[in-house]
Amino acid sequence: MRIGSLFVHNFKNLGELNLTQLSGVNIITGRNASGKTNTLQSIYFLSTLSTQFKTYQQAVRFGADFFSVKAAVESSGSEKTLEVRYGPGRDVKLKQNGNVVAKKSDYIGESRVVNFAFEDIDLVRGSPGERRRALNILISQVNRSYLKSLQKYTAVLSQKNKLLSDAAGKKPDIALLETFNEQLCGAGAEVVQGRKEAAVFLTGAFDLAHRKISLGLEKASLEYKCSFDSAGDIKAAFMEKLKNLLPAEIARGVSLVGPHKDDLIFLINGRDAKYYASDGQQRTLVFSFKLAEYRYMQETVKDDPVILLDDVFYELDAERKAAVLEFLRPMPQMFIVSLDDEWVKKVFPDARSFRISGGALQNAI
Ligand SMILES: Nc1ncnc2c1ncn2[C@@H]1O[C@H](COP(=O)(O)OP(=O)(O)O)[C@@H](O)[C@H]1O
Ligand SMILES: [Mg+2]
Repeated sequence: MRIGSLFVHNFKNLGELNLTQLSGVNIITGRNASGKTNTLQSIYFLSTLSTQFKTYQQAVRFGADFFSVKAAVESSGSEKTLEVRYGPGRDVKLKQNGNVVAKKSDYIGESRVVNFAFEDIDLVRGSPGERRRALNILISQVNRSYLKSLQKYTAVLSQKNKLLSDAAGKKPDIALLETFNEQLCGAGAEVVQGRKEAAVFLTGAFDLAHRKISLGLEKASLEYKCSFDSAGDIKAAFMEKLKNLLPAEIARGVSLVGPHKDDLIFLINGRDAKYYASDGQQRTLVFSFKLAEYRYMQETVKDDPVILLDDVFYELDAERKAAVLEFLRPMPQMFIVSLDDEWVKKVFPDARSFRISGGALQNAI
């Protein structure tokens, strides 16, 4: 897929930013704090509805009372416009081709992105929640039923947790708890199944990318860790585990097992990379994972996602950088933020360059 044009209104410091005739490779340049990262984030948000900010309100430009991001997207030969708009006290409003889309699950996946950003290092260093979030965002972009199951699971889980914590050690309504568990099993099994399938693909693509980028010097692997034994009948195994843990859950006042406890482990030379990898090695793992994300989306929907790269090359040595660029070169569309746009132009001579200043477009070349 390709984004043909992008119009951003009051998103963070971007007052009115209109980027037209977008190219395969688009360089976003400008001084510090001009709005380069915000430009990429607007594309990321338009596509995934996931945020790097805590509340939608944080993304509304100071002094404004709404933000909107709109793009013309070409995918598998057809064109569409997508729009997301937020005003205070409301949820986001979504549109496709000018028509309101009521459900997020009918919107996510219409534009697909892989985002390479500075904070991605948290994928390796951060908590399991970061890795589950990455998996959820990834799979949801290519699998609507996964997203629906995840939404259902999350909603029931929060009801169940409320019931458990409200009971605070006393006996909660067991019949209601069992109803919640039934629902969690159905939706949860779908989530685990989706993650298992994605993990099979991701581990292979990850291994391939990692061997190339690390020039075969390191052995890394990726392992999906389900919070219960999911080798056989997932739903039955989940139900069994929930039954066994029921007394403990009541005693602790919180739900203890399920896909909200899963993890994805990065191993380097057999050890957990969170503790035993250098900064550069961790960056390499993250790049490899992102490239695997790309392949997974490309393979699953037979269409290439758009790549967003926010100044992420400087921590790689020259050889690793060259290896990453080899992967990127054939990809149909990317947005590259770089303080030093000269080297990007050398690598991608056909790139268009958009210079941002004070949240607005200064010039386009
Ligand atoms: N809601 C907002 N309204 C106005 N400005 C904002 C808002 N949120 C963030 N900013 C500002 O946007 C500026 C540009 O951010 P960013 O895009 O990250 O810069 P850079 O070009 O260095 O990547 C920052 O100075 C930040 O303070
Ligand atoms: Mg930035």
